[in-house]
Amino acid sequence: MAETSPVGRPIRSFVLRQGRMSVAQQRAHDSLKAVYGIPYAAQPLDLAAAFGRNAPKILEIGFGMGDATAAIATAHPENDYLGIEVHSPGVGSLLNQIRERALANLRIIQHDAVEVLRDIIPDASLAGVHIFFPDPWHKKRHHKRRLIKPDFVALIASKLAPDGYLHCATDWEDYAIQILAVLSGEPTLANTAEGYAPRPGYRPLTKFEQRGLRLGHGVWDIVFNKAK
Ligand SMILES: C[S@@+](CC[C@H](N)C(=O)[O-])C[C@H]1O[C@@H](n2cnc3c(N)ncnc32)[C@H](O)[C@@H]1O
Repeated sequence: MAETSPVGRPIRSFVLRQGRMSVAQQRAHDSLKAVYGIPYAAQPLDLAAAFGRNAPKILEIGFGMGDATAAIATAHPENDYLGIEVHSPGVGSLLNQIRERALANLRIIQHDAVEVLRDIIPDASLAGVHIFFPDPWHKKRHHKRRLIKPDFVALIASKLAPDGYLHCATDWEDYAIQILAVLSGEPTLANTAEGYAPRPGYRPLTKFEQRGLRLGHGVWDIVFNKAK
């Protein structure tokens, strides 16, 4: 399914620059990842067992430093949230927020979200998927790295339960146009709005969004539903 480069390597939507971790982030990896992290393994995950209950499961792809993720999980204890991120400092930051807020409804997988969805998320198991400010890869020659592509959206749609939703947000207009076109082309999804959606109340302003707004960029939310 993954597109490959001419030498056969998969074209990924991220480049791993681990960067420096703060002492607190490193400590979180050492002590909290075993508690709140779910290791990637190429086999289906029992989501109810992972959270210890039956509740709606919402998956977030690319949570960055996790501030929006933690805020949403805090405001919605009735749902369970599974955050996916590859960037170690961000994972450390969200692990610390889980502990500080004593969140029982948030777990993390540190791995490529494309493989997580492909290999371990059962079909029709998710109440929602959040993709907030995916890397825009704004140079044309890098567009192939953009996460939102027809194949990946079809994969996400297959993981949504009936009436589940896919919510994307971006501050890059040409990516917003592409996301709207790709989601509109997925036959199992339907737009909840005429074109772009109003920002759903559960989505707080993220760091990236605030920066975009300061630079005078617009922000576009795109919310599609799986058929009931
Ligand atoms: C531009 S940042 C946005 C972060 C956050 N959602 C926000 O709004 O502040 C995009 C994030 O997606 C992550 N990412 C990109 N591709 C990913 C993938 N295939 N699997 C997991 N994370 C990914 C990157 O590491 C990065 O942290």
